[in-house]
Amino acid sequence: MIYLDHAATTPVREEVVKEMEPYFTQYFGNPSTIYKVGREAKKGMEEAREKVADLIGAKVDEVIFTNGGTESDNMGIKGVAFKNKDKGNHIITSQIEHPAVIETCAFLKKLGFEITYLPVYKAGVVKLEDLKEAITDKTILITIMHVNSEIGTIQPIKEIGEIAKEKGITFHTDAVQSVGKIPINVHELNVDLLSISSHKIYGPKGVGALYVREGIRLEPFIHGGGQEKNLNSGTENVPGMVGLGKAAEIAKKELGCNMKHLSNLKEKLINGISYIEEAYLNGDIERMVPGTANFHFIGIEGESLVLLLDGNGIATATGSACSSKKLKASPVLKAIGLDVVKSHGSLRITLGPENTEEEVEKVIAAIKTSVERLRSMSPIWNNRK
Ligand SMILES: Cc1ncc(COP(=O)(O)O)c(C=O)c1O
Repeated sequence: MIYLDHAATTPVREEVVKEMEPYFTQYFGNPSTIYKVGREAKKGMEEAREKVADLIGAKVDEVIFTNGGTESDNMGIKGVAFKNKDKGNHIITSQIEHPAVIETCAFLKKLGFEITYLPVYKAGVVKLEDLKEAITDKTILITIMHVNSEIGTIQPIKEIGEIAKEKGITFHTDAVQSVGKIPINVHELNVDLLSISSHKIYGPKGVGALYVREGIRLEPFIHGGGQEKNLNSGTENVPGMVGLGKAAEIAKKELGCNMKHLSNLKEKLINGISYIEEAYLNGDIERMVPGTANFHFIGIEGESLVLLLDGNGIATATGSACSSKKLKASPVLKAIGLDVVKSHGSLRITLGPENTEEEVEKVIAAIKTSVERLRSMSPIWNNRK
C-alpha cells in the first residue's frame, strides 16, 4: 500500500508502542494513588506532559491531556464561553474549521451565543481586516485553526493573536494539523489555547492535549474526580499519554528533516499533476504545510478517483463527504470558491515522512490513468469538449 492520507491518521511508530507497553502491564497503577505502581504511572504521565510542552514551547503545567483533538476543541471553546458568559456572548471563528469547532460553535449558538464565521477567500486564508471589523465589545473568544485539514493552508495565527491580545480577547487555535508538521511556539504564536491530537503525529488514537496558557480560566464540562486540573475528570489514559509524549519527542527531533523531505515530495507531486489537463491545486501554494496538496480535476468524481486509486493500492482522500448516500460538497472547498462540480472532483493527498519519490512517481502515473478512465465515461467532460 502507498499511504497518502496522513491528515486522516498516521500509523503508530514502533518506538511509541514500545514506550507505551509497560504502562498496560507493569506500571498499570492509578496515577492518583500513592503507592509505587501508582507513582510509576504518574511519573510516566508527567514525563509525557513535559515532552508535549517541549514540542510547543509551553510550561509543563499548561498542558492538559484530553481524549483527542475533538475533546480539546470542545474543552477550550465551551470552557471559555461558559466561563465568560457574563462578559459577552460573541465568538469569532472561520468558515473552514474542522467539525469539532464548527459543531461546537453551532451548539453554543443554540444556547444564545452569537457566532461570526470569517470568510477565507480563494487562498483559503482569513483577512485581518475582516477580523478587526468583526470584533465587538461582546467578543469573548476567537477560534481560528492553524492549518486546514483539507487544503493545508496556514492561517496568520501570530497576527491574529496580536489583535486578540490587544483587545483582551481569549484566542484558541486548533493546531491538530500543524503540530509536529511545522515549528510551533505558543508564545511566538500569541495563543491562549491550542488543540493537539496524538494520532496525527504517529501516536495512538484517543488521546490529545489542550494547551491552556497560565491564567486562562475554563469552565470544566466533565465533572468528577478533578483530574487534569479539574478540566478532565476520570482515571487517566496513562499508556495513551505516554504514547503521545513519545510521539511529540520524535516529532520535535525529526521536524526539520521531515519538512524538507515533504516539501521535495510535494513539489514533485504538484509538478507531475500539472501535466494533467484541467487539473488544479486548491488553495494558495505559498501558504501551505509541506505535506498537503488538494487538487480538483474537471469532469470527474472525487470518490470514484479515490476508489480507483484504492484498487491500485493507493490510499487518498477526497474533499467531499458521503452523507446519507447523497454527495455533500465540502464546506472548505465551497468557502474557497469552488462550485459543487469542481468540489466533487477533488482529491486530497497528505504525504508523510515515510513516503518516497518512487511512490510519488507511481501515484502521479496512477492518477493520470484513473482520471483519463473516469473522464472517458464522464458526461460533464465529454459534453464540454
Ligand atoms: C483540524 C482538526 N481538528 C480536529 C480533529 C479531530 O481530532 P481527533 O480525531 O483527535 O478527535 C481533526 C481530525 O481530523 C482535525 O483534522
